[in-house]
Amino acid sequence: MWKILITLSLLSLLALAVAQEAKPTQGASKTGPTPAYYAIPQQAARKENPVSTTPESLARGKKQYGYDCAMCHGKQGNGKGDVAVDMKLGMHDETNPATLKDRSDGELFYIIKKGKDQMPPEGDRVKDETIWDMVNYVRSFANKGAAAEKPAEEKAAN
Ligand code: HEC
Repeated sequence: MWKILITLSLLSLLALAVAQEAKPTQGASKTGPTPAYYAIPQQAARKENPVSTTPESLARGKKQYGYDCAMCHGKQGNGKGDVAVDMKLGMHDETNPATLKDRSDGELFYIIKKGKDQMPPEGDRVKDETIWDMVNYVRSFANKGAAAEKPAEEKAAN
């Protein structure tokens, strides 16, 4: 009988501990009136990029970026895509190394997946791996070496 009582009270203590640990995380995601995309969860921001920046990853990222992103961000990442110009979106120039310098890969992944301001989310349209490829590709805009590889007429078009 005692054993059962002790087991029961231990179990309820455990349940309490679990419930209390769950609380702060729940609260954190709901703080303040800021839209969800601004409050990037720390866990998401700290997520390591599992895809290294290989030529293959950059090629995959470039392809998907051409379909889903270039109309706003521009082929070169300068923010002068047709749609962005038409909609008068306030775009940042991602070829400027300062633009994304303070963003972690995890944050970029989160923004691309969930969207930001007028930017539509990729959501589940593409695999997470492809989103990491695009993180790598978007980062390469600020890298002069990668920019120099691009053909001159592509640069002129933007
Ligand atoms: C409808 C236009 C539109 C499309 C399409 C779009 N974006 Fe954006 N994006 C924006 C706007 C607007 C912002 C906010 C202003 C800025 O940071 O340039 C933004 C911001 C960003 C940022 C910077 C986030 C920050 O705050 O540091 C990244 C990175 C980005 N977009 C990547 C992408 C990628 C990758 C795609 C394609 C999967 C994409 N965007 C598609 C409009 C768009």
